[in-house]
Amino acid sequence: MRAFVVTDYAHPSKIPITQNAPEPKAGPGQVLVDVYSAGLNYFDILQSQGKYQHQPPRPFVLGSELAGRISADSPIPDGCPFRPGDRVFGAAQGAFAEKVAANWQALVSLPDNMTYDQGAGLFVTWPTSYEALVGRAQLKPGEWVLVTASAGGVGIAAVQLAKALGAKVIAAAGSPEKLEVSRQAGADHGVDYTKEGWQKEVLKITGGKGVDVIYDPVGLIRDSLKCIAWKGRAIVVGFAAGEIEKLALNLVLLKNISIVGIHWGAYTKNEPERVPVVWNELLDLFSSGRAKPIVYRETFPLERTADGLAAIEQRKTWGKVIVHVRPAAPTAKL
Ligand SMILES: NC(=O)c1ccc[n+]([C@@H]2O[C@H](COP(=O)([O-])OP(=O)(O)OC[C@H]3O[C@@H](n4cnc5c(N)ncnc54)[C@H](OP(=O)(O)O)[C@@H]3O)[C@@H](O)[C@H]2O)c1
Repeated sequence: MRAFVVTDYAHPSKIPITQNAPEPKAGPGQVLVDVYSAGLNYFDILQSQGKYQHQPPRPFVLGSELAGRISADSPIPDGCPFRPGDRVFGAAQGAFAEKVAANWQALVSLPDNMTYDQGAGLFVTWPTSYEALVGRAQLKPGEWVLVTASAGGVGIAAVQLAKALGAKVIAAAGSPEKLEVSRQAGADHGVDYTKEGWQKEVLKITGGKGVDVIYDPVGLIRDSLKCIAWKGRAIVVGFAAGEIEKLALNLVLLKNISIVGIHWGAYTKNEPERVPVVWNELLDLFSSGRAKPIVYRETFPLERTADGLAAIEQRKTWGKVIVHVRPAAPTAKL
């Protein structure tokens, strides 16, 4: 099969696609999936170079997000609800390949109204943003939300979810194009956070009150607290800018605020009962059309995976960047 195999650690741009990689074998609790589309993440670049927190033994196949069909020759473990041919999306190491072995519990049925491209980038970003806003920040209708990196993978999901929950959204991003993408996703206002004093613009938009919730995947909590409201909640989602912030705690006291974290990946271990609840609510939002996964305008064939990853590295992309693993991915059923 064709696959992005990492034998020696290197930047993805230095690794060619292997044409005859061995097919994976399903382990206990696993099914085989024919991959149609795979989602790209910054951490793929790190893993390819041996710099990520999770490194499989070499040689390994890169990639972790996918959408496809349960393979015709897949074993079906006890309790697994899927059957060969079912459309699924989810996570598994080795997604940049024509076939992958996946734990069936890390797969979800792909809704009929969704393409493989849309499904391939869903599994991490959407539940992260949903649980951040609902479970952690307890967002209420009518509240103001500031989303930083609002056009990025988790950010664009947060914009749509905050709107679907009845909030007023201020998108903060680094280019006019990304602000336009955020507006199209439903943001009420946009501010360019590369401009000095952007927090004053946020205060002006909110009539001086500030935002009730800050959703921050960048590492801009300290800067964003300049425009948080009394009793606001700031959610630590990630550090895309590369620095883990330090914070003077008097800032927390002065405005009576809460700082909360979200680590969606840890829910399967610490709070597994919450996972299907979040997915059911998300699948409802998708099937009603109130939320829609957004795919970057350029998709890449498997052979150009490195170009897609380079676009992420260069901060050019918005939404989810997708690789087509099989040439003619069938479209959604509807
Ligand atoms: N807590 C969780 O459970 C969880 C789950 C998923 C992801 N995350 C984390 O959330 C962060 C964002 O993930 P994502 O999938 O949304 O990534 P993404 O699609 O690559 O978007 C990241 C965005 O961050 C902004 N950014 C600001 N400074 C940057 C810099 N110095 N270098 C690169 N980007 C910069 C860029 O937007 P602008 O150009 O508009 O500034 C960029 O598009 C990552 O750190 C990820 O690890 C956390």
